[in-house]
Amino acid sequence: MNLKRMHVSLVALLMALCAPVIGIGKSRLLTPTPARQAGVTVPKKAEEQFKNIQVLKGTPAEQVFPTMQFITASLGVECEFCHVQNAFDKDDKKPKQTARKMMEMMFAINKNNFDGHREVTCYSCHRGNAHPVAIPAVIADEPLRKPGEPHGMESGPNPGEAKNNEGPTAEHLIDKYVQAAGGEAAIQKVNSRVMKGTIDFGGMSLPIDIYAKDPLKRISFTHMAEGDNITAFDGREGWLGMSGHPLREMHGSDLDGAAIDADLHLAAHLRQMFSESRTEGTEKIGDHDAYVVVGQREGKPPIRLYFDKQTGLLVRLVRFGETALGWLPTQIDYADYRDVDGVKVPYRWTLARPSGRFTIQVNELKQNVPVDDGRFAKPPATPEPPKNTAR
Ligand code: HEC
Ligand code: HEC
Repeated sequence: MNLKRMHVSLVALLMALCAPVIGIGKSRLLTPTPARQAGVTVPKKAEEQFKNIQVLKGTPAEQVFPTMQFITASLGVECEFCHVQNAFDKDDKKPKQTARKMMEMMFAINKNNFDGHREVTCYSCHRGNAHPVAIPAVIADEPLRKPGEPHGMESGPNPGEAKNNEGPTAEHLIDKYVQAAGGEAAIQKVNSRVMKGTIDFGGMSLPIDIYAKDPLKRISFTHMAEGDNITAFDGREGWLGMSGHPLREMHGSDLDGAAIDADLHLAAHLRQMFSESRTEGTEKIGDHDAYVVVGQREGKPPIRLYFDKQTGLLVRLVRFGETALGWLPTQIDYADYRDVDGVKVPYRWTLARPSGRFTIQVNELKQNVPVDDGRFAKPPATPEPPKNTAR
């Protein structure tokens, strides 16, 4: 993979669900609508923003790209499998037409069999393949599984597979986490955090600087040869910057995720964040046995938390992006916890999505140092460069 391609793929990864690195719908996405200017949120519908929406009518426009990401992840294909480049409204490719029928089929299956709950999705059948497998596989290797052990424990993360309802209550585990992280008072005292480190992805390692400030402000600069890649959230708006490209705004679930990442007091906020929480069981995360807690939130997808059985610290957080067809997961694994000013801070974390993953290792960390609010300010919009086809 050449550098240019790398550059694009990192941005694609960081932006995962935002408008992708292609010149469609961009100007419209970036233009503040009158409603937004007036401070009222009237989400645009898919069919109001895009030209040829037939099945996803009524879906919020900001969910169209996440929905497309959900499809590509479910089928293990690229956009071009269904779309003509730079003409996403065209129906020239057969798989696009099939995909419409598949959406109708999926909605019908759930309506007719699961009281309308979204139990079956594209992924249920496709599992990362364009052609679902209809025939059970034969055993290829000597089974490692001992007789009587349940299936699937050796495979990757799968939400339903935690061992059933064992362990302390969710409230207890969250409280224990707050204590393990230094206690409410010490956590609340942190008002800024400045970190220097490296970000590793696709075999590359680049320097990164991260600034976080209470309340909910965070910005990171990944230093690339071509300039900085920026991911920013100012407590309200989020945006992504990449040298030579127009700035892109975050929407929907991406803003939700950015707010979680920017929260210096997350541990102390968890209890109030959840309308309901419960312990689902235990799961192994690397070498750690962890309790799995699921927190429900009003009007948003739940959050899954994994607390180390030994230390009580958070070793994994999984959040979900809403789409028209299913949830898109973002999984963050925290490691290398160190004590700074009486709080435990992870010096390493890995963020993984269906589209890719990266790991950040912090080398230098300072807390409660002055950080100017101007750091988080969105630069003024620059005119769009000529249409790019970078992909
Ligand atoms: C498996 C097929 C499939 C794949 C893969 C796919 N799409 Fe789509 N896409 C569709 C279908 C079907 C529609 C129309 C939905 C409808 O009619 O409601 C659509 C609609 C769109 C639209 C709206 C176009 C318009 O103006 O009407 C955009 C934009 C889009 N897709 C972008 C993408 C992007 C970006 C990717 C890759 C991340 C992608 N799609 C991957 C099937 C696919
Ligand atoms: C109930 C199972 C099931 C679900 C749910 C399902 N599919 Fe399929 N899909 C299939 C089967 C079976 C085929 C036919 C595979 C073949 O031809 O080998 C197929 C074929 C397709 C194809 C044609 C592939 C090609 O090579 O032309 C597309 C595109 C597709 N599905 C998209 C989707 C999308 C998008 C969703 C979610 C909205 C979805 N499917 C949900 C079972 C499913």
